[in-house]
Amino acid sequence: MKDISIKVPVTEARVDELTPAEQELVSLARRAYLRSYAPYSHFHVGAAILLDNGEIVTGSNQENAAYPSGTCAERTAAFYAHSTYPEARFKAIAIAARGTDGEEIELPVAPCGACRQVLLEYEKLAEADVKVILVGRDRVYILPSVRSTLPLAFSEF
Ligand code: THU
Repeated sequence: MKDISIKVPVTEARVDELTPAEQELVSLARRAYLRSYAPYSHFHVGAAILLDNGEIVTGSNQENAAYPSGTCAERTAAFYAHSTYPEARFKAIAIAARGTDGEEIELPVAPCGACRQVLLEYEKLAEADVKVILVGRDRVYILPSVRSTLPLAFSEF
């Protein structure tokens, strides 16, 4: 027997330390949560995905009276991006959220497990790392890939 530990690389930064393209992605994710439909949780999430064709696709969580029928911001954006631009590959994603107090959440928001698995699918399709930027009120966490958000991920290929 042996113990194995898996390290997750995370860089903490201020938004003004990001590249202009990354800053743009963060501000589009922040704008996207304003368009979320979250009358049940009052937790508004926005996601912005940069594609290799230069397009940026955004999405927000869309809730439903039948709770499980709602969808997270990341999946709204990812499915819209790949159904609109099936040839394009994901390059980066930024995720931001406003909490039930109406303020942007202090700690960078992290995607749920299902969204990590969905994003991993598109990272594999891209055959390149998709940078993940988790946005908080005055700092961001940057992860180099979706894979790093989901250690021991299920994978068929
Ligand atoms: N939510 C997201 O949009 N993304 C996540 O990664 C986690 C949760 C949404 C789902 C639901 O509408 C609300 O946040 C509260 O869970």
